[in-house]
Amino acid sequence: MTSEICSRYPSISDLREKAKNRLPQFAFEYLDGGCNEDVSIIRNTAEIREVQLQPRYLRNFGESDTQTKVLGMEFDAPFGISPVGLQGLMWPNSPEILAKAAQKHNVPFILSSVTTMGIERASELTEGKAWFQLYNPVDDAVRNDIIDRAEAAGCPVLVLLCDVPTFGYRPRDIRNGLALPPKMSLKNILQILGKPAWAYNTLKYGQPTFETLKPYTPEGLNLKQLGQFMDRTFSGKLNAEKIKPIRDKWKGKLVLKGVASEQDTKDAIDLGFDGIIVSNHGGRQLDAAQSTINSLREMTKYGDQIEIMIDSGLRSGPDIARAMASGAKFTFMGRSFMYGAAALGNKGGDHTISMVKTQFKQVMDQLCCGRVEDLPNHLIK
Ligand SMILES: Cc1cc2nc3c(=O)[nH]c(=O)nc-3n(C[C@H](O)[C@H](O)[C@H](O)COP(=O)(O)O)c2cc1C
Repeated sequence: MTSEICSRYPSISDLREKAKNRLPQFAFEYLDGGCNEDVSIIRNTAEIREVQLQPRYLRNFGESDTQTKVLGMEFDAPFGISPVGLQGLMWPNSPEILAKAAQKHNVPFILSSVTTMGIERASELTEGKAWFQLYNPVDDAVRNDIIDRAEAAGCPVLVLLCDVPTFGYRPRDIRNGLALPPKMSLKNILQILGKPAWAYNTLKYGQPTFETLKPYTPEGLNLKQLGQFMDRTFSGKLNAEKIKPIRDKWKGKLVLKGVASEQDTKDAIDLGFDGIIVSNHGGRQLDAAQSTINSLREMTKYGDQIEIMIDSGLRSGPDIARAMASGAKFTFMGRSFMYGAAALGNKGGDHTISMVKTQFKQVMDQLCCGRVEDLPNHLIK
C-alpha cells in the first residue's frame, strides 16, 4: 500500500465514496444496493457492530499472527473475496484485479459463475487457488462440464449457492432498467458519458460477457435473449436430490453458501458439505432476513462437524475480528473489494486487502491476542 493511497483512502467508506464518483449511477447502484427497503443490508452491518471485544493488556504479549487455516488450507489473513457477478460491468477488468491481489496476499478469491472472467483465467491468475461458485445449472450435462472444468483448472473448493431461489426485488435496478444482463437505455448511456474513466476502461477491455458460460451460450443472442437464456439455464431452487450428484462428482472441498438457518446447516452436514458460508447475499435477496452475525450464533455449535464461514455486512478489520470472535472460522467480503477496484483500478485490490489486513492486525495487537483462533476468548458475551 503506497503511503499516498493509504492516507487518502484509509477505510472502506472512503473507497465507496470514490467508487460512487467514478461509476455510472446504474453500475454503482447495482453494486451498492440491497433489496426492497434496504433493511437487511443495514441490519447486517449494524448488528455485527454490536459485538464487543475485551483486551487483555497485562498479559505477556509480543505480536499477533494473522495466519488462518480453513478447509485444510493456510491463508495470510482470515478473510477472502466473495463471489460477485457481472464484475466487469461495475469496473472493467475488476475480477482480474481482485484475483491477482488475492494471489499476492495469499487470501482466497471466489469466482462467480456469472462474472466476466472465466474459470480457466481465474485459475491462471491464482496458480490454481481460486475457489469456484456454482449456480446450479438446470441441465446435468452443463453442470458436469462446469464441474469438470473447475477440477481441470485445479480449483480446490466448489461453492454451491443456495440463497437465490428467485431473483431479489431491487428497486434501484428496476428503475435503472438493469436486468441480468443490463439494458443500455438512453438514461444509462447519458450516465456513462459523465464517467470518462469508466467509459475509457470499458472500451479498452470490451463489453463484459459471462466468460465461464460462453461454451453453453448460443451465439448471436441480443441482450434480452441472453437474459432469457440465463433464466432457463440456472435453477436456484436446491434440494438433496440436486445436491447429491454434485457431492458425488466433486472430489475437492464442497461449501454451501447462503445458509441462514440451523436446519439447513444440519442438512448441509448430512449431505456431506465440508463447509458453509453463513450469508444472506449481502442483504440483496430477503429484506426480512436475520443479520448473518445473529444466524451465526445458532450455528457455531456445529463447528466441529462443518467449517462455518460468514459474509454479509463486514466492512473493516474490526468487523472481521468481531465475526471471528463470534465463532466464524473465516470471513468474506463482497462489496468492499469491489469498491476498492472501482475506486483505484489496478491498485484497488492490493490496497483494499493491505488496508483491511492492517486494520485487522491492529485489533489483534490491541486485544493482545496472539493467534486468530484465540479471538473467541475476547468476546464479551
Ligand atoms: C453486486 C453483487 C453481485 C453478487 N453476485 C453474486 C454471485 O454471482 N454469486 C454469489 O454467490 N454471490 C453473489 N453476491 C453476494 C456476495 O457473494 C456476498 O455474499 C455479499 O456481497 C456479501 O456481503 P457484503 O457485500 O456486504 O460483503 C453478489 C453481491 C453483490 C454486491
